Amino acid sequence: MTTTTPGPTALRGAVGTAHTRVEGRDKVTGAARYAGEIPFTGLAHGWLVLSTVTRGRVRDVGTAPVLGMPGVLAVLHHGNAPRLRTDYVGMLGTRPDPTAAVFQDARVPFAGWPVALVVAETPEQAREAAEALVVTYDEEPHTTALAADDPGAYSAAGHPPAEVGKDLEAELAASAVVLDEEYTTPEEQHSMMEPHAATARWDGGRLEVVDSNQGTTWVRAELAAMFSLDPASVRVRSEHIGGGFGSKGLRAHQVSAVMAATELRRPVRVVMTRRQMFSLAGHRSPTVQRVRLGADPDGRLRVLDHRSLNRTSTVFEFVEPSASVGQVLYAADAHRTASHVVRLDVPSPTWMRAPGEAPGSFALETALDELAVRCGADPIELRLRNEPETGPVSGLPFSSRNLAACFREGARRFGWADRDPRPGVRREGHLLLGTGTAAATYGAGAAPSTALVTAEADGSFTVRIAAADLGTGARTALTQIAADALETVPGRVRVRIGDSDFGPAMIAGGSMGTRSWAWAITAAAAELRERLAVAPDIPPEGITVRSDTTEAIGALARKERHTFGAQFAEVAVDTATGEVRVRRMLGIFAAGRIVNPLTARNQLVGGMTWGISMALHEEAVRDRNTGRHYAPDLAGYHVATHADVPDIEADWVDDPDPDDPVGIKGIGEVGIVGAAAAVANAVWHATGVRQRHLPIRPDRVLAAPAPDGAGRAADGADEADGGAVD
Ligand code: MOS
Repeated sequence: MTTTTPGPTALRGAVGTAHTRVEGRDKVTGAARYAGEIPFTGLAHGWLVLSTVTRGRVRDVGTAPVLGMPGVLAVLHHGNAPRLRTDYVGMLGTRPDPTAAVFQDARVPFAGWPVALVVAETPEQAREAAEALVVTYDEEPHTTALAADDPGAYSAAGHPPAEVGKDLEAELAASAVVLDEEYTTPEEQHSMMEPHAATARWDGGRLEVVDSNQGTTWVRAELAAMFSLDPASVRVRSEHIGGGFGSKGLRAHQVSAVMAATELRRPVRVVMTRRQMFSLAGHRSPTVQRVRLGADPDGRLRVLDHRSLNRTSTVFEFVEPSASVGQVLYAADAHRTASHVVRLDVPSPTWMRAPGEAPGSFALETALDELAVRCGADPIELRLRNEPETGPVSGLPFSSRNLAACFREGARRFGWADRDPRPGVRREGHLLLGTGTAAATYGAGAAPSTALVTAEADGSFTVRIAAADLGTGARTALTQIAADALETVPGRVRVRIGDSDFGPAMIAGGSMGTRSWAWAITAAAAELRERLAVAPDIPPEGITVRSDTTEAIGALARKERHTFGAQFAEVAVDTATGEVRVRRMLGIFAAGRIVNPLTARNQLVGGMTWGISMALHEEAVRDRNTGRHYAPDLAGYHVATHADVPDIEADWVDDPDPDDPVGIKGIGEVGIVGAAAAVANAVWHATGVRQRHLPIRPDRVLAAPAPDGAGRAADGADEADGGAVD
């Protein structure tokens, strides 16, 4: 192995080579235990009881009959639960969602609000008793439907609208081509495979919570604040995780488990059911988005005006910042983006799979496709004509911006040059075929983290970092990074993660995990090597170095830092049934240095699969009258399965981040961005009818006017059911 200066261009050992997951054998043999299946002596089981009304107050919780049922140990509710602190700002800068701070008062702000926890000796007894528990309510009228013109919409403090450049209305009036359309996306659910599960217990004066979450130090800080405990007396572990997608932070399961474990003085486990997750685990709010574009005849943008509205609960403010995607993607003489929010009687939304960029790119990238048609321009050419030189809103330089390279490589591999731009001309029996494209971008950030790296006496190394591997392959990537940084092979490096006792670290979120953790590991490894160079003798307990990247990351120059991508899709539309099938997809990404091509491709293909799912399938439908979901389970809420997913190819162009020690940017979320728009644009190309409302259900395809073949005008009729989404 050669010694080189650390840096993004230094090609060494393990980073950049395919590596199967280091815990893969444990997972496929069942040796890897998930939070809900780790055994504890004396374990009791809690079952959450959720409100059946959508708004009102709990009048009475009928505990007496339930306490007499077999195995029942306790019923916790607002009348007997301990008081929690909720007035703090957590480590991610947000106040806690009261949905997690359970049983603090009698009010019911939405359907599926936690009203009680029944604890019993077995999960079956707890469930039986929970279902027998009679809770009575004073009901109040509710509103759950989101409407574009809701007078309650407002601009949240942390999400101010951005307006730069010339006068917007004047520029619009001076534009040769104008587009003004509304796009909607529905409520979407994270739907990770593993439900939320936590076991809480007191052990020698310390609270230990074994959980499935995206950040052990994050959840520890939240629990400590909420229960007024010294953070050092709380330990949160989360070793294996079956997906998170933004949903696995502090939730009702951990808090209620801690309450019950404290009360009963024995370990208590609380697991959410799939149905409970629909109201307790966060979700993506529906959005109503208005995009106005004004362009010169050649498609150069004079105006980009994007306003998005999402709904949040009455107890927690969450903004889905959908309009912000345009702040990165396109230059315009007059540029305005605003993401608004309105409070309704619905569960609290949260981050989910590229929050903001995923729904925002559906609207903006569909609008760009519509503009290309109106200008008679190729959709890729149109985008390249609007490439900004600096941040369109910030004016800051880009750390690197390889969107054009993604489109060039993608177009070549997808066969874009052979595409007939006219819609509705490719037929195969009763099927209409079409292709579409869209741009992708997502933030490339890093956040302070600490890591411990130990040189063991036997010549191996141990890395300890409170990272989380949601199933992404992060643990494996970190093993490769550590091996290179220590100038050894991955087989001599043990990476231990998912334990808050390892010290503060970034969560697995914002596509920032691996980059942030890699930075800390690289720093600790470098110092360790220096020490070993001076004093190579290792004592039996090893030599441990701790790093903290707070200063290094704080010193980063302000720049626009993003990943980019070009999405391509081909669809077949059945004109008899309205069914849309994606035939192939290609995504080419500029996403920093790729640490592990095997798991990276996994992440990107996974994101694109979400895109198909978002475009065609996912929709959590709420009944306006009851305020509840129609079918809150994975039968009623369809997530793309194997039969829905064709040949998907994901690849990348060379794009090492110049300011990162390893060259990483982060790949967790960019794969979904633009993917739904690429599918929707392909549906337009196939049929000649524009689909502005997701998902593109068969009834929406059938309700559209029949295409009349070659040379059809760009615009189909608007959806009859557009404009308001539940
Ligand atoms: Mo991701 S939605 O930032 O966990």
